[in-house]
Amino acid sequence: MSSRLWEKGLPMDQKILEFTVGHDFELDSRLVKFDIQASIAHVRMLGKCGYLSADEVDQLINTLTVIGQDHANGTWAISLEQEDCHTAIEAQLNDHLGELGGKVHLGRSRNDQVLVALRLYLRETISHVKTASREVIESLENLAREQGHVAIPGYTHMQQAMPSSVENWAMGFASEIATNQALLNASYELANLNPLGSAAGYGTPGLKLDREFTSSELRFTKTQEPVTACQLSRGKAESTLAFALVQILNDLGRLSADICLFATQEYALVKLGNDISTGSSIMPQKRNPDVFELIRAHSAQAQADMQAILALTSKMTSGYHRDLQLIKEPLFRLIDRTLKVLEITRHALGRIEFDAQRAKDITDPSIHQAEQAYALVQSEGISFREAYKRVAQQNI
Ligand code: ARG
Repeated sequence: MSSRLWEKGLPMDQKILEFTVGHDFELDSRLVKFDIQASIAHVRMLGKCGYLSADEVDQLINTLTVIGQDHANGTWAISLEQEDCHTAIEAQLNDHLGELGGKVHLGRSRNDQVLVALRLYLRETISHVKTASREVIESLENLAREQGHVAIPGYTHMQQAMPSSVENWAMGFASEIATNQALLNASYELANLNPLGSAAGYGTPGLKLDREFTSSELRFTKTQEPVTACQLSRGKAESTLAFALVQILNDLGRLSADICLFATQEYALVKLGNDISTGSSIMPQKRNPDVFELIRAHSAQAQADMQAILALTSKMTSGYHRDLQLIKEPLFRLIDRTLKVLEITRHALGRIEFDAQRAKDITDPSIHQAEQAYALVQSEGISFREAYKRVAQQNI
């Protein structure tokens, strides 16, 4: 007999099983640790409410801890037949504890298990993204400290516009990346609601569970209520995080687009270290900015990931649907993409060098005309419009 939680001894078509499981058995690997955390809180709660003895609670918690460590060590992995991490963990419990393993599922469903595991995962992920973002901000600050004095033109419409500097350029991006924290916080807040105890989506009539207890065990700020809100909210913290990650990657994509432009022979404002530029198989002279092009490309694909998450829940009727399972793939891909791109950006930013002399050579003196008009306003007390005209006439 298989270890599926809903197994009733009826045969299952292998093709249907493979299709419905999809990549879930592999994707869920990253959720094991969080399902274990939530299972431990659930077991404690069942003990507190009198559904498990103190000894049963101890045995279940100790075994769940071992199962978590064994998974981390690679001793076991989720099999396709088990479908997902929830089933696999319960199967492990049964292997270790026999009958007692079956007591853990009282008052819960995979529908609330997947919600709670995802939320614990999202909270941890958001803190990783914040750390990785801070590291990029630090590398931009280093660039500003070391090369910030280099004067470069500021551009509008890709035309030289006003005097600027490497410091201004780098710190603009640093500031925007920091501002994205507000979006990450919004996602964190949505993920910080406890869905556990909503079970399949309609609670546990006939059982007296203490949902507040698991909320405090798992450090959720609130128990999500009413229970019918829980399944409706699947995908919201996820798509909010996706939006935040898209914004972060957009900033990095624009930073990269600048660097690609600055590294052209025509601009030649930036030199890329040999170790971060790539060559051509036909043109011996080429040093290409592939790393920055790919950062830009990831920022484009991130939008597709976000759209894949958002689209899934639109027009879906309330309650759990298996469609929701497919949120995980674009979500995990987007998270991995973002962390990888943040790390490579931090790494590559330390290896670019602005050429101060070249910046001087390509700077058109006309970028000082607005300043000249300001000087006239202050020295002659005329209106800005009049000063603008005078400077314009002098330069025709
Ligand atoms: N893998 C499923 C998901 O991510 C877990 C929940 C399955 N629930 C169910 N009723 N089939 O949504």
